[in-house]
Amino acid sequence: MTENKRYRLLFVCLGNICRSPAAQGIFQATVDRHGMTDDFYIDSAGTYSGHRGDLPDRRMRRAASARGYELTHRARPVSSLDFEDFDLVIAMDDSNFSDLMHLAPSVEASRKIKRMADYFSDHSLDYVPDPYYMGQDGFELVLDLLEDSCENLFASIVRAEDRP
Ligand code: 4NP
Repeated sequence: MTENKRYRLLFVCLGNICRSPAAQGIFQATVDRHGMTDDFYIDSAGTYSGHRGDLPDRRMRRAASARGYELTHRARPVSSLDFEDFDLVIAMDDSNFSDLMHLAPSVEASRKIKRMADYFSDHSLDYVPDPYYMGQDGFELVLDLLEDSCENLFASIVRAEDRP
């Protein structure tokens, strides 16, 4: 399923119903906008399995839709097998990062794990905060952070490929 894609990215948060499906949708839109849809396989997953099969949280779907992103992902738990299928596994916060480091089956696999905050332009925050218990502002903040970091992440991938 993913083998014929040049780049394979997995976004990971806790529940896989707020931050990582939003990152997936925004990154997909970024790739589409740059005319590189066929080059990327993009997915998301959660370190907690309790929302398995659920659509993204209604508040996140509404906030994302207002910016033109329709989020239709169904939540699933991350698995150690994901380290075989993906080139980059991108954590939304330090807790996700630490959980992924424990899940990685090898040192080589652990090198695929990145933090979304590594791609922020503005470094006053160093993680994507969990909006689940926040108000509407929390969802807007998450979308602002993800729009910025998705653009920078995309540029960093394409730049690396351009290097001789
Ligand atoms: P997410 O937000 O990790 O951005 O999907 C959360 C969603 C649900 C829960 C926690 C965080 N929860 O505990 O149910």
